[in-house]
Amino acid sequence: MNSQAPILIVGAGQAGVQIAESLRQEGFGGELLLIGEEPHPPYQRPPLSKKWLADGGSGSAVSLAIRGAEALARRRIELKLDARVAAVDRRAGELTFSNGERLRYGKLAFATGSLPRILPVPGAMLEGVLYLRGIADSRAIAEAIRRCAADQQRVVVIGGGFIGLEVAAGARKLGAEVTVIEGLERLMSRVTAQVVSEAFERVHRAHGVEFVFDAQVVELSGRGGRVELVRTADGREFPAGCVVVGIGVAPDDRIAAEAGVACDRGIIVDECSRTSDPVIAAAGDCTARRLPDGRLQRLESVQNAVEQGKSAAAALMGRSRPFHATPWFWSDQYDVKLQMAGLSHGYDQVVTRGDLHKPAFSAFYFRAGRLVAVDSLNRISDHMLAKRLLDHDLSPTVEQVTNPDFDLHGLVKQSA
Ligand code: NAI
Repeated sequence: MNSQAPILIVGAGQAGVQIAESLRQEGFGGELLLIGEEPHPPYQRPPLSKKWLADGGSGSAVSLAIRGAEALARRRIELKLDARVAAVDRRAGELTFSNGERLRYGKLAFATGSLPRILPVPGAMLEGVLYLRGIADSRAIAEAIRRCAADQQRVVVIGGGFIGLEVAAGARKLGAEVTVIEGLERLMSRVTAQVVSEAFERVHRAHGVEFVFDAQVVELSGRGGRVELVRTADGREFPAGCVVVGIGVAPDDRIAAEAGVACDRGIIVDECSRTSDPVIAAAGDCTARRLPDGRLQRLESVQNAVEQGKSAAAALMGRSRPFHATPWFWSDQYDVKLQMAGLSHGYDQVVTRGDLHKPAFSAFYFRAGRLVAVDSLNRISDHMLAKRLLDHDLSPTVEQVTNPDFDLHGLVKQSA
């Protein structure tokens, strides 16, 4: 295969842009096309549930741009926006767009991201039921929240995870009353320990958010096609001016799966972001990465999109560039910054350092006596330290973490 034949990238988000830029850095001189479904040039999604939303969702799309048009043009990265790829014919090496247009590729990358999970109950698609993924969604949510604030109607948020809680904080800032309905018994339980969930619950309650836990939403109903009520399995009813649903995402592997590329709730990639097809790579939220022990790992984060994007570009150039960076995530809610380093699942002990009530503390997660992850709330230097400890496979003891006088930074310096 001529390595200079056109490379097409399906998906113009964080991972797609990274693949394109890294291809140029890797020395690819051929035609490079970045295909996006939305009308906007590649933009950052994290602010859509954070500051951009809390500021009213009326900022310009340009302020969210990952790269300016000029920077992309300079690197000869062509954009094809408002374009939906409908199918991939791998035998012919050809993409078909939803308008019937066809394009040939030499090599291909999928960076199709993920899609919000739709609430599986009657009424989930009524007007006023909103999901957050793109700029248009964030704008619609901000507008609905402002209307609720003006009409003194409640915003009901379904899901107490990242999106639900960031939207709740934004809605309070925009002056609306908020109820969060969470299916499980505590907030962000997929990713954090109880002590962190409780700290965020206190912060939100102090800002006036109402919580309903262990609640199964069974129906949304309304009049004239517009949502007015959320009903839970125990018969409770929650009046709603609008409903924002944040109950997780699913990788968008539809086109890849239909084309016969190996998928299992995500496009399966190896540690170098190669798919089951030697001329196709994939990166970001749409992937499921095969780990050495055979398990599949899905990470939904900017960092993962960037790191996998770099290795996907190398793979398309016939090189192996595995990445093993410590995963990190963050969330902003009011004036509390949550920063997470490492993956905490499977931990058997968690200890804290700092002030739980301010809050300004970190939760250190251990598995079999080894540090596996740290969540920091308004403790930026702990987060930086945690990344360095985990990067270097260094583990303090539980006693060292819980001793406020012990210098954890010294552990990194000693090993340097
Ligand atoms: P999530 O997995 O973080 O949280 C979903 C929450 O909804 C969980 O607490 C879950 O128990 C609850 N839930 C699930 N089904 C439910 C139901 N039927 N009724 C009530 N509660 C239910 O997913 P979320 O918040 O939708 O975020 C999706 C993705 O968006 C993240 O995984 C991430 O990719 C991205 N994101 C990341 C952010 C960050 O890193 N700070 C911020 C915002 C979004």
